[in-house]
Amino acid sequence: MKKLIAGNWKMNMTLDTAIALAKDITAQAGQAQADYLICPPFIYLDRIAAIVEGSAVNLGAQDCSFNDNGAHTGDISAAMIKDIGATYVILGHSERRTDHGETDDIVHQKAARAHEHELTTIICVGETNEQREQGVEQDVVAAQLKGALPSSVTSTNTVIAYEPVWAIGTGKTATPEDAGSMHSFIREQLGAQFDDPENVRILYGGSMKPENATALLSMPNIDGGLIGGASLKAKSFVRIGGCA
Ligand code: PGA
Repeated sequence: MKKLIAGNWKMNMTLDTAIALAKDITAQAGQAQADYLICPPFIYLDRIAAIVEGSAVNLGAQDCSFNDNGAHTGDISAAMIKDIGATYVILGHSERRTDHGETDDIVHQKAARAHEHELTTIICVGETNEQREQGVEQDVVAAQLKGALPSSVTSTNTVIAYEPVWAIGTGKTATPEDAGSMHSFIREQLGAQFDDPENVRILYGGSMKPENATALLSMPNIDGGLIGGASLKAKSFVRIGGCA
């Protein structure tokens, strides 16, 4: 399957730098072997939608509300994200789980809402360092998948991102073997919720960069990357796609 190279810009950039980065990525991703996706902060989505329109670069948000609309101060709905031309939404990122207390149940509700509005969800799972040291990483990830995936998931509207928390933004990357073995485990687990688990894209995230992307992306069940730090420079982000 074609790899998906997704950039999670998190809470970075100014309007000027966001526009410049989106233009650079769009210009460089033209001949891509991989599918590209960028997920800027909400406030820049509308401006960036106009830049990526008609290009090989897809647009996504970093979160959405589980409510459809109404009195929910500060929230952004799935319908609004769809309305401005984005097609993906990242849900359950470990930073949202930590900063905002998001549980699997909340992620489940958000994903169901996003699917109602025809967004493709990237649902993040992953263990902490402590959980890996205790040897419970598979139990943790299995429980997250079971709790966070709504019955509306299909292999076209859902992507899974395995992001070991200890590898996010730390410069520490899972070895290709460890990541590959978790990805195979995830694929097996998906059999319970998908008719065709072999077609679900499973991304690796956690300090992925051009220097380690080839080894990670060559593992059988690693279908792309969710990239934070290295997605903030067009050259490194696009180069990761070139490793696919
Ligand atoms: P990182 O972030 O590439 O900076 O480790 C990945 C992520 O959090 O999605």
